[in-house]
Amino acid sequence: MSKIEQFIIDRLRERKDKLSIRNLSTNTPPFDFCSNDYLGFARSGELKKMIDDTLAALPNYLNGAGGSRLLSGNTKFTEETEQFIADFHLAESGLIFNSGYDANVGLLSSIPQRGDTIITDELIHASIIDGCRLSHATRYKFLHNDINDLEAKLKLAKGNIFVVVESVYSMDGDIAPLIAVLNLCERYKANMIVDEAHATGVFGTNGRGLINQLNLTDRVFARIVTFGKAIGVHGAIVLGSKNLRHYLINFARSFIYTTAAPIHNIVAVRSAYQYLNKIDHQLVHQKIALFRRVLKEQNINAFDSESTIQGILFSSNEATKFAAANLQSKGFDVRAILSPTVALGKERLRICLHAFNTDEEIISLANHLKELH
Ligand SMILES: Cc1ncc(COP(=O)(O)O)c(C=O)c1O
Repeated sequence: MSKIEQFIIDRLRERKDKLSIRNLSTNTPPFDFCSNDYLGFARSGELKKMIDDTLAALPNYLNGAGGSRLLSGNTKFTEETEQFIADFHLAESGLIFNSGYDANVGLLSSIPQRGDTIITDELIHASIIDGCRLSHATRYKFLHNDINDLEAKLKLAKGNIFVVVESVYSMDGDIAPLIAVLNLCERYKANMIVDEAHATGVFGTNGRGLINQLNLTDRVFARIVTFGKAIGVHGAIVLGSKNLRHYLINFARSFIYTTAAPIHNIVAVRSAYQYLNKIDHQLVHQKIALFRRVLKEQNINAFDSESTIQGILFSSNEATKFAAANLQSKGFDVRAILSPTVALGKERLRICLHAFNTDEEIISLANHLKELH
């Protein structure tokens, strides 16, 4: 066996021994408490029809973009969509990336320079960490949602300073103390960047996000909004000033060196944003409230979260995997979040609530959780 094959096998065996091996699965139990399709847009027949109608009205649209945005891949429709989304979120401007991962990597790797400082919450998403790794700036982490620790790190910071938080944290589902973080940023002349991946569609008027809800749009440097979660489609946009947009077009390598999304994807994004104005935004919050209420009644210890993401702690890979398998066998699509994706001892079931989950499904899930907890 070659040396490299042996290396691969050894690394996989290590993961298996720690019960943290990842496998792709095509087994999808019927009751979805796992996907990020919080509003049911990904499965909406009505949205599908809106997309199909818009595509039918676009004469001779191409199956593929044929190149990057800077070469053959740009269209008027894409630019209009970017401005339409920026207007929706009350931002001056926006630039679409092929995914939230690309958006974070592009933004964080291109704006902070050597001698600058990036300060991130310790639970920040991997795409932001990877963007920081590609930057030559110094990076500090602060304790999760801890304003005092953030201030301690701000005191160490040099050059242009960037503070990066998620408005809703992707694994814990809790909300960052956005106003307190922003006040500190202003005191230390730091630029705040907010990843709204899990707040978009769920919080703010018609799903405009938490920065909108708190009227902070003019005070943050940049927002990342992703389309693959509540918006139900694919891609992402960085919102900020016109100058920021132009800078990213020139310097963000994950924007420059990749084929643009095909037009049918952009049509899907535009249609989904139009659809946001047509739905009942209270429904998903009623489902969250119901789940929280039954958990409390059943005395089940859950993470403190008002968002669609609800964590139930099991504290080991073994116990979490067992609970997930048990619930899956009963038809609930819930997934175990294991270390090293989360810290050792913080292994949990990550339960996502959706506008389409029925009350019966939610109550039944809580009852089964009670048996396992
Ligand atoms: C907070 C956060 N940011 C960014 C991303 C990446 O977005 P995308 O799935 O569009 O690449 C995710 C997705 O997991 C996320 O949870």
